Amino acid sequence: MAKTKEKTRWFCTECGADSPKWEGRCPSCGAWNSMVEERVSPSPRKSPATRTRTTPNRSVPQKVSEIKASEEARIHMPSEELNRVLGGGLVSGSLVLIGGEPGIGKSTLVLQNILSIKSRRILYVSGEESAMQIKLRADRIGRMSDNCYIVTETSLETIFEHIAEIEPQLLIVDSIQTIASDAIESAAGSVSQVRECAASLLRYAKEENVPVLLIGHINKEGSLAGPKVLEHIVDAVLQFEGDRQYMYRILRATKNRFGNTSELGVYEMCQRGLREVSNPSEMLISRQTGEQLSGCAIGVTIEGQRPFLIETQALVSTAAYGTPQRSVTGFDSKRMNMLLAVLEKRVGFKLAQKDVFLNIAGGLKVADPALDLAVIAAILSSNVDMAIQHGICLSGEVGLSGEIRPAARMEQRVREAEKLGMETIIIPRGSLKGVDTSRMAIKIVEVSKVEEAFRHLFG
Ligand code: TYD
Ligand code: MG
Repeated sequence: MAKTKEKTRWFCTECGADSPKWEGRCPSCGAWNSMVEERVSPSPRKSPATRTRTTPNRSVPQKVSEIKASEEARIHMPSEELNRVLGGGLVSGSLVLIGGEPGIGKSTLVLQNILSIKSRRILYVSGEESAMQIKLRADRIGRMSDNCYIVTETSLETIFEHIAEIEPQLLIVDSIQTIASDAIESAAGSVSQVRECAASLLRYAKEENVPVLLIGHINKEGSLAGPKVLEHIVDAVLQFEGDRQYMYRILRATKNRFGNTSELGVYEMCQRGLREVSNPSEMLISRQTGEQLSGCAIGVTIEGQRPFLIETQALVSTAAYGTPQRSVTGFDSKRMNMLLAVLEKRVGFKLAQKDVFLNIAGGLKVADPALDLAVIAAILSSNVDMAIQHGICLSGEVGLSGEIRPAARMEQRVREAEKLGMETIIIPRGSLKGVDTSRMAIKIVEVSKVEEAFRHLFG
């Protein structure tokens, strides 16, 4: 064993900075306990793409006024939700990372899209699944294409050979953590490998003007380099998230050099792949006809650019133990405790002796403070065991003294509620100033205090 010659360095899994020795705190980004040890070869920076490509295509500085700006050519993806998140399509020559937990549906999303692009030659490099497994998945999705090549490969050098042979017009690498370059000694998935492979693919994308989609895993143990290291390198980071117990998946851009990061795409995982959900509100509110149940309130929230109607459910019951339980899914638990304290003080409910459970339907996590009013309404409704009437929805932030504060883009929220056939919306007073409400079919109730909302809901 040539152990004596082996050199190691320490890499930060958060930002990719390296250091010759271990440090408790990364000197570059300040993250604690993020350094991992990796073997390095004597010449780590020589990746295959560097060796073969940089010298002939030497770059030449240009005056900014003389650069011809051909409005970046975008490839229209078959999925409209994906286009929306990308900012209007995939920009040629861009490097896009799709990150998410294992099993959330990243491979399915990408495969489903590329099988519908018939006009381009596409190379799908998989380091995780065999060609047969991918074929089975394609059968399951029910799409086929003659222009899509699949190869199972993990060596970066061989991947570049395949690229030279096939000359793809779109390249997919699933996943970046399984690819390794021979120029670096450490294992696939280590910080230095991930960074090096991504940098080589970036160079390829820019020089050949071919868009490259990378798939990356996030994992909590930190044994694989998280997409954090990649975030600096790539042009766009799309996050695919959702709860595996639920069918809904949300795709959002956390970084995008060519578009807006507040866009959002919603999908549903079905038997035959992912289905686009162009109107999320419809599936997030249960449309029970007949008897109304207590403890349910419909709130209007905005995620990204899109308003959603979402059902909040609460259960308030007498505490069985000395310390009352508080359990929250999909909403900030500190915020719920704050709202409970406001209710106690302002409306006089003795909630201290009650267990309170709160749930946001559909497994979504909502951070929009405008959901406060719906949360309060659901809790009150369960507490008095009176159902909120059909067709009422709420939107507004609740302040510490029980005042209802205006939330952003109220008009958009009201219109969404109207579109979905809601009859009444309860909103903060004065939040529709300057908006012509006379033509709206929905009844608008403006309130400025929690007590007022309570009186309106339960008489
Ligand atoms: P996958 O795309 O393999 O996830 P990732 O690449 O993010 O690891 O998707 C995995 C899950 O999706 C798997 O648990 C099965 C489910 N699935 C369906 O429910 N329907 C389908 O049509 C397909 C292809 C997958
Ligand atoms: Mg996969």
